[in-house]
Amino acid sequence: MYHLLRQLLFTLPPELAHDAGLTAIKTGQTLGLTRFFMPQLPECPVKLMGLTFPNPVGLAAGMDKNADCLDGLGNLGFGFIEVGTVTPKPQPGNERPRLFRIPEKQAIINRMGFNNKGVDHLVEQVVRRNYSGIVGVNIGKNLTTAVEQANEDYLTCLRKVYLAADYIAVNISSPNTPGLRTLQFGGSLKQLLSCLKTEQQSLAKRYGCYRPLALKIAPDLTDDEIMLVADAVCGQGFDGIIATNTTIDKQQVSDYKHGQETGGLSGTPLKELSNKVISALRSELGPDFPIIGVGGIMCAEDAVQKIKSGANIVQIYSGFIYQGPALIRDCVLEIKKSLAQET
Ligand SMILES: Cc1cc2nc3c(=O)[nH]c(=O)nc-3n(C[C@H](O)[C@H](O)[C@H](O)COP(=O)(O)O)c2cc1C
Repeated sequence: MYHLLRQLLFTLPPELAHDAGLTAIKTGQTLGLTRFFMPQLPECPVKLMGLTFPNPVGLAAGMDKNADCLDGLGNLGFGFIEVGTVTPKPQPGNERPRLFRIPEKQAIINRMGFNNKGVDHLVEQVVRRNYSGIVGVNIGKNLTTAVEQANEDYLTCLRKVYLAADYIAVNISSPNTPGLRTLQFGGSLKQLLSCLKTEQQSLAKRYGCYRPLALKIAPDLTDDEIMLVADAVCGQGFDGIIATNTTIDKQQVSDYKHGQETGGLSGTPLKELSNKVISALRSELGPDFPIIGVGGIMCAEDAVQKIKSGANIVQIYSGFIYQGPALIRDCVLEIKKSLAQET
């Protein structure tokens, strides 16, 4: 059925199709209709970062930036949903067009630029959800905040989302906010991680509940840089790592229409790169450190490959656009099968 819907949606400009899809889900959610789409999923709970994920397949950040559709998306079978990226103040994001499909390569390029309604709106939505899966909140900085002051934006978001979120993802890897990726290196990284960790500990004490912190990284890091990020994340006591965000390497799509647009590339061309980063992280961090794998999962076999590369659980974005909600169930089934074969 999704193939027919996709044909229709793909006749629209990508961002209009995205908004139409989310509006349909929101309307279905309000009318109580989306629960009829809930697939039959096998039991496949995963314990990670002190949380129990009902299944290992989640929605990656960026689709429901404002947490407006949590219940509707949840009814499609996701074990967890990461909302955001959210910033302290609302902001419009970059000028349109800023979202491009490359169907020949099952890929997407986006330069959305953290368009969102601000953290207060997001928290209201997360608090009133009925969705019983895990909700991660992905936090970032406003465009108008200088990179040197970025820590304050992350701290503001952390304080505001702390109680509402099940985990908090710190996004320093979007290629669409100038300077953001520089936070992945050296002293800037250490300072950011350290101040967030200190704040997390004080919030945990104040509220009597611990919310895990995960860092989301780019795929465009050298091997040495991956090691340094891994050591910093582990050394500063972060609870997990999310690998990866979109890539700025567009060689694989440069001959296709829109293949040279500015922004981050996701979907099939990202798969190998993201798997390499995950493997490198797993070797560096050892068998027990939580890794959430994302990038280029377009079929169930891709999801299994992510787990085999070292991820504990996975997220999808572009695959959901190209394959629709059936991908969630397919991935859960195959991951469960592959885990059963291992034991
Ligand atoms: C249109 C679009 C918007 C995105 N927005 C965000 C975002 O706001 N924050 C974030 O951390 N990642 C964002 N991402 C990256 C995804 O969360 C994911 O890391 C990336 O797309 C790779 O997964 P995929 O190949 O399954 O799409 C976005 C991706 C797309 C395609």
